[in-house]
Amino acid sequence: MQLKITVVAGDGIGPEVTREAVTILRSVAEMGGHSFEFTEKPIGGVAIKEHGSPLPTSTLDAALESDAVLLGAVGGNEFNSLPPSKRPEAGLLQLRQALGGFANLRPSIAYPALSGNSPLRPEVTEGANILFVRELLSGLYFGEPRSWNKDTGVALNTMRYTREEVVRVARVAFELASKRRKKVTSVDKANVLEVSQLWRATVIEVAAEYPDVTLEHQYVDACAMHLMNTPRNFDVVVTENLFGDILSDEAAVITGSLGMLPSGTVGGKVNLYERVHGSAPDIAGTGKANPLGAILTGAMLLRHSAKLEQDALAIETAVNQVLSQGHRTADIARSGDAAQQSRQNIVSTQEMGKLVFGALNEIFNRKQSLHAV
Ligand code: IPM
Ligand code: MN
Repeated sequence: MQLKITVVAGDGIGPEVTREAVTILRSVAEMGGHSFEFTEKPIGGVAIKEHGSPLPTSTLDAALESDAVLLGAVGGNEFNSLPPSKRPEAGLLQLRQALGGFANLRPSIAYPALSGNSPLRPEVTEGANILFVRELLSGLYFGEPRSWNKDTGVALNTMRYTREEVVRVARVAFELASKRRKKVTSVDKANVLEVSQLWRATVIEVAAEYPDVTLEHQYVDACAMHLMNTPRNFDVVVTENLFGDILSDEAAVITGSLGMLPSGTVGGKVNLYERVHGSAPDIAGTGKANPLGAILTGAMLLRHSAKLEQDALAIETAVNQVLSQGHRTADIARSGDAAQQSRQNIVSTQEMGKLVFGALNEIFNRKQSLHAV
């Protein structure tokens, strides 16, 4: 298997977590006799500083020519006063648009080894395994017109969806649900917004193509509550761009840390893989960042862009093993009495990467059976 991967590590902790993910992917390539070619390109704040643009043409060209793009993180406090169109985040949004992936898959899993890390009680989170399908190319993020008129004191963004945009993302959600627990929760605000009424009517239409999948609807405010009260009741959640952004961060509480969450965006010309967490400039360079979100994102890349399901599962199993052995980065470490009762070993970003690397190599050598969770 040959794969050309463009690596856009970006800002803050992006480069340090991405490095660990790339090491793991290289190891998979070596073990399986695959040829993965990695090309590094700037994006976000580093690209603004070096090239005056958050998405330089050479980065975009390389990304468009590759089989998959692996992204670290973008953003930094020094850009906070810039308008949205000039910020590091604009580079990411332009890249998403150019690559064309509209279905952003964000799994949120309660790892048994991390139960107790969540502020939710273990009996609430136990067994929770939710897959968010966030629409990524439309809605408030991209809707026109948009403006901020400082003279009149009026700012405007537009939430706009077409029926086709809803159909295509709903199909992805139903396809995935039909291979899982066969339930789709569609999240909207159809009691207030016309866009949500279109969303709901369209999802109902698509559901007719999947008679074995159950469809339920939730308003976004109620969903935010149900996710915390009864996370096990969810299988696949499909929703529009901004609702998905917000709810997927909320769902990190189920896992215990945003640092654990991977994502992959499919459906376009080139799939884009990015962990869910941000650039965390406050901890950049301290070795505190959790590389597991990035490493699990690498697993998603293997699953969706290389069809290497067994290798993806091997990485997920290795992560699960390392967690079960008590290794923790700062974000998933427990403190106070809980820390004393648990046998945890606090490690740095790099050490965590090495531990996963070691576990993965053992799995490959033993051809061990795979248990992602
Ligand atoms: C995410 C991030 C991005 C988004 C930002 C950095 C543009 O929060 O991937 O969830 O809002 O989509
Ligand atoms: Mn977000």
